[in-house]
Amino acid sequence: MNRTLRIPALALAILGCAPFGAAHAQNDKGKAIYDKVCVACHSAGIAGAPKLGDAKAWEPRIKAGIDALYESALKGKAPAMPAKGGATDVPDADIKAAVDYMVAAAKDGASAPAAAAAAPAAQAAPAAPTTPRPAALSFNRLLKPASKRNPPPPEDGIHDPDNDGTHALQPPLQVFESLPRSNAGNRVDWVKALDNNLIAPRWDRTDPAAAPVVMDLNIVREVKGSMPDVVYPHKQHTAWLDCSNCHPQIFIPQKGANQISMAAILLGQKCGVCHGKVAFPVSECRICHSKKKNVMPVKNAQAN
Ligand code: HEC
Ligand code: HEC
Ligand code: HEC
Ligand code: HEC
Repeated sequence: MNRTLRIPALALAILGCAPFGAAHAQNDKGKAIYDKVCVACHSAGIAGAPKLGDAKAWEPRIKAGIDALYESALKGKAPAMPAKGGATDVPDADIKAAVDYMVAAAKDGASAPAAAAAAPAAQAAPAAPTTPRPAALSFNRLLKPASKRNPPPPEDGIHDPDNDGTHALQPPLQVFESLPRSNAGNRVDWVKALDNNLIAPRWDRTDPAAAPVVMDLNIVREVKGSMPDVVYPHKQHTAWLDCSNCHPQIFIPQKGANQISMAAILLGQKCGVCHGKVAFPVSECRICHSKKKNVMPVKNAQAN
Protein backbone atom coordinates (compact mmCIF):
# COMPACT_ATOMS: atom_id res chain seq x y z
CA MET A 1 0.00 0.00 0.00
CA ASN A 2 2.77 2.37 1.03
CA ARG A 3 4.47 2.15 -2.32
CA THR A 4 1.38 3.26 -4.15
CA LEU A 5 1.11 6.38 -1.99
CA ARG A 6 3.71 8.20 -4.04
CA ILE A 7 3.82 11.92 -3.60
CA PRO A 8 2.28 13.67 -6.59
CA ALA A 9 4.83 16.40 -7.24
CA LEU A 10 3.50 19.49 -8.91
CA ALA A 11 6.75 19.83 -10.80
CA LEU A 12 6.29 16.41 -12.37
CA ALA A 13 2.80 17.28 -13.51
CA ILE A 14 4.18 20.37 -15.18
CA LEU A 15 7.12 18.56 -16.76
CA GLY A 16 4.62 16.00 -18.02
CA CYS A 17 3.29 18.51 -20.54
CA ALA A 18 4.35 18.32 -24.16
CA PRO A 19 7.80 19.73 -25.00
CA PHE A 20 7.89 23.34 -26.13
CA GLY A 21 9.79 25.04 -28.93
CA ALA A 22 8.86 28.13 -30.90
CA ALA A 23 7.47 31.50 -29.81
CA HIS A 24 3.89 30.28 -29.96
CA ALA A 25 4.87 27.30 -27.85
CA GLN A 26 6.25 29.71 -25.23
CA ASN A 27 2.71 30.92 -24.73
CA ASP A 28 1.56 27.30 -24.41
CA LYS A 29 4.01 26.88 -21.57
CA GLY A 30 2.71 30.04 -19.93
CA LYS A 31 -0.82 28.72 -20.28
CA ALA A 32 0.15 25.34 -18.86
CA ILE A 33 1.68 26.95 -15.76
CA TYR A 34 -1.29 29.28 -15.45
CA ASP A 35 -3.71 26.33 -15.62
CA LYS A 36 -1.78 24.38 -13.01
CA VAL A 37 -0.84 27.06 -10.49
CA CYS A 38 -2.13 30.58 -11.05
CA VAL A 39 -5.70 29.59 -11.93
CA ALA A 40 -6.33 28.85 -8.24
CA CYS A 41 -6.63 32.59 -7.57
CA HIS A 42 -6.52 34.43 -10.89
CA SER A 43 -9.57 32.78 -12.41
CA ALA A 44 -12.11 33.82 -9.79
CA GLY A 45 -10.15 36.80 -8.42
CA ILE A 46 -9.48 35.28 -5.01
CA ALA A 47 -8.22 37.77 -2.40
CA GLY A 48 -8.24 40.57 -4.98
CA ALA A 49 -6.11 38.81 -7.59
CA PRO A 50 -6.55 40.48 -11.00
CA LYS A 51 -8.65 38.11 -13.09
CA LEU A 52 -7.36 36.58 -16.30
CA GLY A 53 -8.57 38.60 -19.30
CA ASP A 54 -9.87 41.45 -17.12
CA ALA A 55 -8.36 44.37 -19.04
CA LYS A 56 -9.39 46.98 -16.47
CA ALA A 57 -7.79 45.18 -13.55
CA TRP A 58 -4.56 44.61 -15.47
CA GLU A 59 -4.17 48.00 -17.13
CA PRO A 60 -2.53 49.88 -14.22
CA ARG A 61 -0.35 46.87 -13.44
CA ILE A 62 0.84 46.53 -17.04
CA LYS A 63 1.70 50.24 -16.99
CA ALA A 64 4.20 49.55 -14.21
CA GLY A 65 6.21 47.53 -16.73
CA ILE A 66 6.69 43.85 -17.38
CA ASP A 67 9.76 43.66 -15.11
CA ALA A 68 7.70 44.82 -12.15
CA LEU A 69 5.13 42.11 -12.90
CA TYR A 70 7.86 39.44 -13.18
CA GLU A 71 9.22 40.64 -9.86
CA SER A 72 5.79 40.36 -8.18
CA ALA A 73 5.21 36.91 -9.64
CA LEU A 74 8.66 35.58 -8.66
CA LYS A 75 8.98 37.19 -5.23
CA GLY A 76 5.31 37.54 -4.34
CA LYS A 77 3.30 40.66 -3.56
CA ALA A 78 1.74 41.49 -0.23
CA PRO A 79 -0.73 40.69 1.07
CA ALA A 80 -1.96 37.64 -0.83
CA MET A 81 0.16 36.91 -3.91
CA PRO A 82 2.61 34.17 -2.84
CA ALA A 83 6.08 33.94 -4.45
CA LYS A 84 5.68 31.94 -7.69
CA GLY A 85 2.01 31.46 -6.76
CA GLY A 86 3.25 29.01 -4.12
CA ALA A 87 4.87 26.68 -6.68
CA THR A 88 8.46 27.33 -5.66
CA ASP A 89 9.72 24.35 -7.70
CA VAL A 90 8.77 25.95 -11.01
CA PRO A 91 11.75 27.57 -12.82
CA ASP A 92 11.77 31.39 -13.07
CA ALA A 93 11.48 31.28 -16.87
CA ASP A 94 8.22 29.34 -16.68
CA ILE A 95 6.73 31.74 -14.15
CA LYS A 96 7.65 34.60 -16.48
CA ALA A 97 5.97 32.74 -19.35
CA ALA A 98 2.82 32.54 -17.21
CA VAL A 99 2.99 36.31 -16.61
CA ASP A 100 3.41 36.86 -20.37
CA TYR A 101 0.35 34.70 -20.92
CA MET A 102 -1.70 36.66 -18.39
CA VAL A 103 -0.57 40.02 -19.83
CA ALA A 104 -1.44 38.85 -23.36
CA ALA A 105 -4.87 37.72 -22.15
CA ALA A 106 -5.46 41.14 -20.58
CA LYS A 107 -4.49 42.87 -23.83
CA ASP A 108 -6.80 40.54 -25.79
CA GLY A 109 -9.55 41.50 -23.36
CA ALA A 110 -8.90 45.21 -24.02
CA SER A 111 -8.84 44.94 -27.82
CA ALA A 112 -12.03 42.90 -28.06
CA PRO A 113 -15.05 45.07 -29.03
CA ALA A 114 -17.01 44.17 -25.92
CA ALA A 115 -14.29 43.86 -23.33
CA ALA A 116 -16.68 43.07 -20.53
CA ALA A 117 -18.26 40.22 -22.45
CA ALA A 118 -14.92 38.92 -23.66
CA ALA A 119 -13.46 38.65 -20.20
CA PRO A 120 -15.53 35.74 -18.94
CA ALA A 121 -14.94 33.87 -22.19
CA ALA A 122 -11.19 34.34 -21.92
CA GLN A 123 -11.44 33.14 -18.37
CA ALA A 124 -13.48 30.07 -19.09
CA ALA A 125 -11.10 28.63 -21.66
CA PRO A 126 -7.94 28.31 -19.55
CA ALA A 127 -9.85 27.06 -16.55
CA ALA A 128 -10.35 23.77 -18.37
CA PRO A 129 -7.29 21.60 -17.71
CA THR A 130 -5.16 20.96 -20.80
CA THR A 131 -4.95 17.26 -20.12
CA PRO A 132 -7.90 15.66 -18.36
CA ARG A 133 -6.70 14.19 -15.10
CA PRO A 134 -8.70 11.61 -13.19
CA ALA A 135 -10.67 13.43 -10.53
CA ALA A 136 -9.49 11.06 -7.81
CA LEU A 137 -5.86 12.04 -8.35
CA SER A 138 -6.12 15.80 -8.54
CA PHE A 139 -6.33 18.10 -5.55
CA ASN A 140 -9.94 18.88 -4.71
CA ARG A 141 -9.42 22.56 -3.94
CA LEU A 142 -13.08 23.42 -3.52
CA LEU A 143 -13.70 20.42 -1.28
CA LYS A 144 -16.49 19.28 -3.57
CA PRO A 145 -18.03 15.95 -2.63
CA ALA A 146 -17.49 13.36 -5.36
CA SER A 147 -20.59 13.04 -7.52
CA LYS A 148 -20.32 9.27 -7.34
CA ARG A 149 -18.25 7.74 -4.59
CA ASN A 150 -16.09 4.66 -5.04
CA PRO A 151 -17.20 3.78 -8.59
CA PRO A 152 -16.26 0.35 -9.97
CA PRO A 153 -12.82 0.29 -11.69
CA PRO A 154 -14.12 0.54 -15.31
CA GLU A 155 -15.93 3.80 -14.41
CA ASP A 156 -13.42 5.44 -12.07
CA GLY A 157 -11.48 7.36 -14.71
CA ILE A 158 -8.24 5.79 -13.48
CA HIS A 159 -8.34 2.25 -14.85
CA ASP A 160 -8.52 1.52 -18.57
CA PRO A 161 -12.11 0.38 -19.31
CA ASP A 162 -10.96 -1.33 -22.54
CA ASN A 163 -8.63 -3.64 -20.65
CA ASP A 164 -10.23 -6.97 -19.67
CA GLY A 165 -8.19 -7.03 -16.46
CA THR A 166 -10.02 -3.92 -15.26
CA HIS A 167 -13.31 -5.82 -15.24
CA ALA A 168 -11.77 -8.60 -13.16
CA LEU A 169 -10.98 -6.16 -10.33
CA GLN A 170 -13.23 -6.24 -7.28
CA PRO A 171 -15.38 -3.07 -7.01
CA PRO A 172 -14.27 -0.96 -4.00
CA LEU A 173 -17.78 -0.72 -2.53
CA GLN A 174 -17.88 -4.50 -2.08
CA VAL A 175 -14.65 -4.45 -0.09
CA PHE A 176 -15.37 -1.27 1.86
CA GLU A 177 -18.57 -2.82 3.31
CA SER A 178 -16.52 -4.63 5.93
CA LEU A 179 -14.31 -1.67 6.92
CA PRO A 180 -14.87 1.00 9.60
CA ARG A 181 -16.56 4.06 8.20
CA SER A 182 -15.62 7.73 8.21
CA ASN A 183 -17.50 10.85 7.16
CA ALA A 184 -15.21 11.98 4.38
CA GLY A 185 -13.17 11.02 1.36
CA ASN A 186 -14.00 7.49 0.32
CA ARG A 187 -15.86 6.99 3.62
CA VAL A 188 -13.41 4.50 5.05
CA ASP A 189 -11.50 5.15 8.29
CA TRP A 190 -8.18 3.79 7.03
CA VAL A 191 -6.33 4.42 10.28
CA LYS A 192 -8.83 2.28 12.20
CA ALA A 193 -8.90 -0.35 9.46
CA LEU A 194 -5.15 -0.78 9.82
CA ASP A 195 -5.18 -0.63 13.65
CA ASN A 196 -7.83 -3.37 13.77
CA ASN A 197 -5.86 -5.55 11.35
CA LEU A 198 -8.73 -5.54 8.89
CA ILE A 199 -6.26 -4.73 6.13
CA ALA A 200 -2.61 -5.73 5.77
CA PRO A 201 -1.04 -3.56 3.08
CA ARG A 202 2.27 -4.90 1.88
CA TRP A 203 5.07 -2.53 2.88
CA ASP A 204 7.39 -3.53 0.05
CA ARG A 205 6.11 -4.66 -3.31
CA THR A 206 8.89 -7.20 -3.75
CA ASP A 207 9.49 -8.30 -0.15
CA PRO A 208 6.40 -9.72 1.62
CA ALA A 209 8.26 -9.84 4.96
CA ALA A 210 9.23 -6.16 5.06
CA ALA A 211 7.53 -4.10 7.79
CA PRO A 212 7.28 -0.35 8.43
CA VAL A 213 9.31 1.45 11.09
CA VAL A 214 6.50 3.01 13.09
CA MET A 215 7.54 6.07 15.08
CA ASP A 216 5.26 7.31 17.87
CA LEU A 217 5.99 11.03 18.08
CA ASN A 218 3.32 13.71 18.18
CA ILE A 219 4.13 17.24 17.08
CA VAL A 220 1.82 19.94 18.36
CA ARG A 221 1.55 23.05 16.19
CA GLU A 222 0.01 25.96 18.02
CA VAL A 223 -2.55 27.83 15.98
CA LYS A 224 -3.16 31.54 16.47
CA GLY A 225 -6.81 32.43 16.80
CA SER A 226 -9.74 30.34 17.89
CA MET A 227 -9.06 27.07 16.04
CA PRO A 228 -7.83 24.23 18.27
CA ASP A 229 -4.11 23.44 17.91
CA VAL A 230 -2.95 20.90 15.34
CA VAL A 231 -1.55 17.58 16.51
CA TYR A 232 0.55 15.94 13.84
CA PRO A 233 0.93 12.23 14.72
CA HIS A 234 3.99 10.39 13.35
CA LYS A 235 2.49 7.05 14.41
CA GLN A 236 -0.50 7.09 12.06
CA HIS A 237 1.68 8.31 9.20
CA THR A 238 4.67 6.01 9.54
CA ALA A 239 2.32 3.01 9.57
CA TRP A 240 1.72 3.84 5.89
CA LEU A 241 4.58 6.00 4.81
CA ASP A 242 8.35 6.01 4.70
CA CYS A 243 10.23 8.84 6.44
CA SER A 244 11.47 9.85 2.99
CA ASN A 245 7.91 10.45 1.80
CA CYS A 246 7.99 13.63 3.92
CA HIS A 247 11.61 14.29 5.00
CA PRO A 248 13.29 16.43 3.85
CA GLN A 249 11.31 17.31 0.69
CA ILE A 250 8.03 18.37 2.32
CA PHE A 251 9.09 18.93 5.94
CA ILE A 252 12.48 19.62 7.52
CA PRO A 253 12.61 17.07 10.38
CA GLN A 254 12.79 19.63 13.17
CA LYS A 255 9.91 20.79 15.33
CA GLY A 256 8.83 24.31 14.37
CA ALA A 257 11.29 24.58 11.45
CA ASN A 258 8.53 24.48 8.86
CA GLN A 259 6.14 27.25 8.00
CA ILE A 260 2.76 25.60 7.57
CA SER A 261 -0.40 27.53 6.88
CA MET A 262 -3.93 26.67 5.85
CA ALA A 263 -3.39 28.64 2.62
CA ALA A 264 -0.47 26.41 1.65
CA ILE A 265 -2.46 23.28 2.56
CA LEU A 266 -5.39 24.43 0.43
CA LEU A 267 -2.97 24.96 -2.47
CA GLY A 268 -1.93 21.31 -2.17
CA GLN A 269 1.35 21.93 -0.33
CA LYS A 270 2.64 20.71 3.08
CA CYS A 271 -0.10 18.49 4.61
CA GLY A 272 -2.10 19.18 1.41
CA VAL A 273 0.37 17.14 -0.64
CA CYS A 274 -1.60 14.13 0.61
CA HIS A 275 -4.69 15.35 2.48
CA GLY A 276 -7.44 15.90 -0.06
CA LYS A 277 -5.71 13.54 -2.50
CA VAL A 278 -4.73 10.21 -0.95
CA ALA A 279 -5.66 10.86 2.68
CA PHE A 280 -8.73 12.32 4.40
CA PRO A 281 -9.68 15.73 2.96
CA VAL A 282 -9.13 19.21 4.35
CA SER A 283 -12.85 19.58 5.13
CA GLU A 284 -12.31 17.39 8.22
CA CYS A 285 -10.94 20.26 10.33
CA ARG A 286 -11.19 18.48 13.70
CA ILE A 287 -9.07 15.47 12.79
CA CYS A 288 -6.05 17.79 12.49
CA HIS A 289 -7.16 20.58 14.80
CA SER A 290 -7.69 18.18 17.67
CA LYS A 291 -6.10 19.83 20.70
CA LYS A 292 -8.27 22.19 22.73
CA LYS A 293 -6.63 25.40 23.85
CA ASN A 294 -6.38 26.54 27.45
CA VAL A 295 -8.91 29.28 26.98
CA MET A 296 -10.43 31.59 29.56
CA PRO A 297 -14.11 31.03 28.85
CA VAL A 298 -15.53 33.18 31.66
CA LYS A 299 -14.54 36.50 30.17
CA ASN A 300 -15.72 35.51 26.72
CA ALA A 301 -19.04 34.27 28.01
CA GLN A 302 -19.67 37.59 29.71
CA ALA A 303 -18.70 39.57 26.65
CA ASN A 304 -21.22 37.64 24.60
C1 HEC B 1 -2.95 32.26 -3.61
C2 HEC B 1 -3.48 33.11 -4.65
C3 HEC B 1 -2.61 33.43 -5.87
C4 HEC B 1 -1.97 32.55 -6.69
C5 HEC B 1 -1.94 31.02 -6.61
C6 HEC B 1 -1.33 33.34 -7.72
N1 HEC B 1 -1.58 34.66 -7.50
FE1 HEC B 1 -0.88 36.24 -8.61
N2 HEC B 1 -1.86 37.54 -7.39
C7 HEC B 1 -2.63 37.19 -6.31
C8 HEC B 1 -3.15 38.39 -5.70
C9 HEC B 1 -4.06 38.44 -4.47
C10 HEC B 1 -2.66 39.47 -6.46
C11 HEC B 1 -2.91 40.95 -6.22
C12 HEC B 1 -1.77 41.49 -5.40
C13 HEC B 1 -1.98 42.94 -5.14
O1 HEC B 1 -1.67 43.72 -6.02
O2 HEC B 1 -2.46 43.26 -4.05
C14 HEC B 1 -1.85 38.89 -7.51
C15 HEC B 1 -1.17 39.64 -8.46
C16 HEC B 1 -0.41 39.10 -9.48
C17 HEC B 1 0.29 39.87 -10.47
C18 HEC B 1 0.32 41.39 -10.56
C19 HEC B 1 1.41 41.88 -9.66
C20 HEC B 1 1.60 43.36 -9.69
O3 HEC B 1 2.73 43.77 -9.41
O4 HEC B 1 0.65 44.09 -9.95
C21 HEC B 1 0.95 39.00 -11.30
C22 HEC B 1 1.84 39.32 -12.47
C23 HEC B 1 0.64 37.68 -10.81
N3 HEC B 1 -0.18 37.77 -9.71
C24 HEC B 1 1.12 36.53 -11.39
C25 HEC B 1 0.83 35.25 -10.93
C26 HEC B 1 1.34 34.07 -11.53
C27 HEC B 1 2.24 34.01 -12.76
C28 HEC B 1 0.87 33.03 -10.80
C29 HEC B 1 1.11 31.54 -11.03
C30 HEC B 1 2.49 31.12 -11.19
C31 HEC B 1 0.06 33.57 -9.72
N4 HEC B 1 0.06 34.92 -9.84
C32 HEC B 1 -0.58 32.82 -8.75
C33 HEC B 1 -2.88 35.92 -5.85
C34 HEC B 1 -2.38 34.75 -6.39
C1 HEC C 1 3.57 12.48 6.67
C2 HEC C 1 4.81 13.19 6.80
C3 HEC C 1 5.89 12.70 7.73
C4 HEC C 1 6.45 11.44 7.76
C5 HEC C 1 6.14 10.23 6.91
C6 HEC C 1 7.48 11.49 8.78
N1 HEC C 1 7.51 12.73 9.34
FE1 HEC C 1 8.83 13.41 10.76
N2 HEC C 1 7.87 15.22 10.84
C7 HEC C 1 6.78 15.58 10.06
C8 HEC C 1 6.31 16.88 10.49
C9 HEC C 1 5.11 17.63 9.91
C10 HEC C 1 7.16 17.30 11.53
C11 HEC C 1 7.07 18.62 12.32
C12 HEC C 1 7.86 19.69 11.64
C13 HEC C 1 7.65 21.05 12.27
O1 HEC C 1 7.10 21.16 13.37
O2 HEC C 1 8.04 22.05 11.62
C14 HEC C 1 8.14 16.24 11.72
C15 HEC C 1 9.19 16.27 12.64
C16 HEC C 1 10.14 15.28 12.78
C17 HEC C 1 11.28 15.36 13.68
C18 HEC C 1 11.62 16.51 14.60
C19 HEC C 1 11.12 16.26 15.99
C20 HEC C 1 11.50 17.38 16.94
O3 HEC C 1 11.05 17.29 18.10
O4 HEC C 1 12.18 18.32 16.55
C21 HEC C 1 11.98 14.19 13.52
C22 HEC C 1 13.25 13.78 14.23
C23 HEC C 1 11.28 13.37 12.55
N3 HEC C 1 10.17 14.07 12.11
C24 HEC C 1 11.67 12.11 12.14
C25 HEC C 1 10.94 11.28 11.32
C26 HEC C 1 11.28 9.89 11.06
C27 HEC C 1 12.48 9.16 11.62
C28 HEC C 1 10.31 9.41 10.22
C29 HEC C 1 10.16 7.96 9.69
C30 HEC C 1 10.12 6.92 10.70
C31 HEC C 1 9.40 10.49 9.95
N4 HEC C 1 9.81 11.60 10.65
C32 HEC C 1 8.29 10.41 9.11
C33 HEC C 1 6.22 14.82 9.06
C34 HEC C 1 6.54 13.50 8.74
C1 HEC D 1 2.92 12.09 2.47
C2 HEC D 1 1.49 12.12 2.72
C3 HEC D 1 0.96 12.86 3.95
C4 HEC D 1 1.31 14.11 4.42
C5 HEC D 1 2.32 15.08 3.83
C6 HEC D 1 0.51 14.34 5.61
N1 HEC D 1 -0.32 13.28 5.82
FE1 HEC D 1 -1.63 13.05 7.40
N2 HEC D 1 -2.09 11.17 6.73
C7 HEC D 1 -1.63 10.59 5.56
C8 HEC D 1 -2.19 9.25 5.43
C9 HEC D 1 -1.94 8.30 4.27
C10 HEC D 1 -2.98 9.04 6.57
C11 HEC D 1 -3.79 7.78 6.91
C12 HEC D 1 -5.00 7.68 6.01
C13 HEC D 1 -6.10 8.63 6.36
O1 HEC D 1 -6.36 8.85 7.56
O2 HEC D 1 -6.75 9.15 5.41
C14 HEC D 1 -2.89 10.27 7.37
C15 HEC D 1 -3.52 10.43 8.61
C16 HEC D 1 -3.45 11.60 9.36
C17 HEC D 1 -4.02 11.76 10.69
C18 HEC D 1 -4.63 10.65 11.52
C19 HEC D 1 -6.10 10.57 11.44
C20 HEC D 1 -6.63 9.50 12.38
O3 HEC D 1 -7.68 8.97 12.03
O4 HEC D 1 -6.01 9.23 13.42
C21 HEC D 1 -3.81 13.06 11.07
C22 HEC D 1 -4.24 13.71 12.36
C23 HEC D 1 -3.07 13.70 9.99
N3 HEC D 1 -2.88 12.79 8.98
C24 HEC D 1 -2.64 15.01 10.02
C25 HEC D 1 -1.67 15.54 9.16
C26 HEC D 1 -1.07 16.85 9.30
C27 HEC D 1 -1.42 17.86 10.36
C28 HEC D 1 -0.16 16.97 8.29
C29 HEC D 1 0.77 18.14 8.00
C30 HEC D 1 1.59 18.60 9.11
C31 HEC D 1 -0.19 15.74 7.52
N4 HEC D 1 -1.13 14.90 8.08
C32 HEC D 1 0.60 15.48 6.40
C33 HEC D 1 -0.76 11.15 4.66
C34 HEC D 1 -0.09 12.36 4.81
C1 HEC E 1 -4.55 17.90 7.25
C2 HEC E 1 -4.61 18.63 8.49
C3 HEC E 1 -5.49 19.88 8.58
C4 HEC E 1 -6.83 19.99 8.30
C5 HEC E 1 -7.76 18.89 7.82
C6 HEC E 1 -7.20 21.34 8.57
N1 HEC E 1 -6.11 22.05 9.03
FE1 HEC E 1 -6.09 24.05 9.57
N2 HEC E 1 -4.07 23.91 9.89
C7 HEC E 1 -3.31 22.77 9.76
C8 HEC E 1 -1.92 23.11 10.03
C9 HEC E 1 -0.75 22.14 10.03
C10 HEC E 1 -1.89 24.49 10.32
C11 HEC E 1 -0.67 25.35 10.66
C12 HEC E 1 -0.45 25.43 12.11
C13 HEC E 1 0.80 26.21 12.37
O1 HEC E 1 0.73 27.47 12.42
O2 HEC E 1 1.84 25.60 12.49
C14 HEC E 1 -3.26 24.97 10.23
C15 HEC E 1 -3.65 26.29 10.50
C16 HEC E 1 -4.97 26.74 10.52
C17 HEC E 1 -5.38 28.07 10.90
C18 HEC E 1 -4.47 29.19 11.37
C19 HEC E 1 -4.21 30.19 10.28
C20 HEC E 1 -3.48 29.65 9.10
O3 HEC E 1 -3.99 29.78 7.96
O4 HEC E 1 -2.42 29.06 9.25
C21 HEC E 1 -6.74 28.13 10.77
C22 HEC E 1 -7.65 29.31 11.04
C23 HEC E 1 -7.18 26.81 10.31
N3 HEC E 1 -6.08 26.01 10.17
C24 HEC E 1 -8.48 26.47 10.05
C25 HEC E 1 -8.89 25.23 9.53
C26 HEC E 1 -10.27 24.92 9.16
C27 HEC E 1 -11.44 25.85 9.30
C28 HEC E 1 -10.26 23.64 8.68
C29 HEC E 1 -11.41 22.81 8.11
C30 HEC E 1 -12.11 23.41 6.98
C31 HEC E 1 -8.88 23.14 8.78
N4 HEC E 1 -8.08 24.15 9.28
C32 HEC E 1 -8.49 21.85 8.42
C33 HEC E 1 -3.75 21.51 9.42
C34 HEC E 1 -5.05 21.18 9.04
